[in-house]
Amino acid sequence: MTQPQLRPDDVPTRDRRPGTVYLVGAGPGDPGLFTLKGKALLDQADVVVYDALVSAPILAMVNPRAVMIPAGKRRGQHALLQPEITTLLIKQAQQHQTVVRLKGGDPFVFGRGGEEMEGLVAAGVPVEVVPGITAGVAVPAYAGIPVTHRDYSSSVTFVTGHEAAGKYRPDIDWAAIAKGSETIVIYMGVHNLTNIVAALSDAHLPGETPIALIRWGTRPEQEELIATLDTILAEVQATGFAAPAIAVIGNVVKLRPQLAAGCPAIARPTTAFDVATSAFPSITGSKSVARMD
Ligand SMILES: C[S@@+](CC[C@H](N)C(=O)[O-])C[C@H]1O[C@@H](n2cnc3c(N)ncnc32)[C@H](O)[C@@H]1O
Repeated sequence: MTQPQLRPDDVPTRDRRPGTVYLVGAGPGDPGLFTLKGKALLDQADVVVYDALVSAPILAMVNPRAVMIPAGKRRGQHALLQPEITTLLIKQAQQHQTVVRLKGGDPFVFGRGGEEMEGLVAAGVPVEVVPGITAGVAVPAYAGIPVTHRDYSSSVTFVTGHEAAGKYRPDIDWAAIAKGSETIVIYMGVHNLTNIVAALSDAHLPGETPIALIRWGTRPEQEELIATLDTILAEVQATGFAAPAIAVIGNVVKLRPQLAAGCPAIARPTTAFDVATSAFPSITGSKSVARMD
């Protein structure tokens, strides 16, 4: 990885002890899925450097004294480059005791948390990770899709569908994934879906294999599109389905009608969550644009 360029006054010295940077996973959006440890850190934080996918109810948990710094990272809108973010965190740790780096989902799952931690460790800044619930598990769950099931899938692969600079990413071996994994969970796959579907079809994944796209999962605006490998591209075009979404490919998607119908908590994100009382005061439904079930 590219290490951030540090100027001499960026480097912590013996008489300037840095604070701690906490890499905190915010989960996929529903504030009820945020960890108690993460919430306690938001209570204490002096500074919070947050990504674009962190949901508004979680940002609202930050104590009012904290300085809020957006670090961007929606597609095509990179507010700060990755080395700039690491350098920013180092600087903030020199000036403050508790710096929270708040990321969507889990910091170490397609979140560049590992890279940021490397940079902080190399600069001598104390750093701790606070895992979050990753979208690849929670978002399908809120759509009634378990990523494994003894009768449907004993293996799951989490893979990024993100392509660099508008080009198909050739280093992902889709054929190996199609052969070796009964469930495929794709992050950042919507923009590259045409290439991914072609690669999986070339790898002889049957055209009738079910696929679910779930957008803004666990949030009140959650939407789902259910189709097959053969039909998904036309469905995306017809519905205008857009990122950010998780794609789930495999027979576990077939469980969705039973599970979503039988479990009122599924696909109904909490709009508020009182951690102290563990109460779910208000429940809202989610829209669905499902076409297969
Ligand atoms: C840069 S990755 C970050 C993943 C994150 N670290 C995690 O563990 O969930 C961003 C991608 O995660 C997926 N994602 C994150 N939150 C989501 C949500 N609430 N609903 C659907 N997809 C989501 C989308 O594929 C999005 O493009």
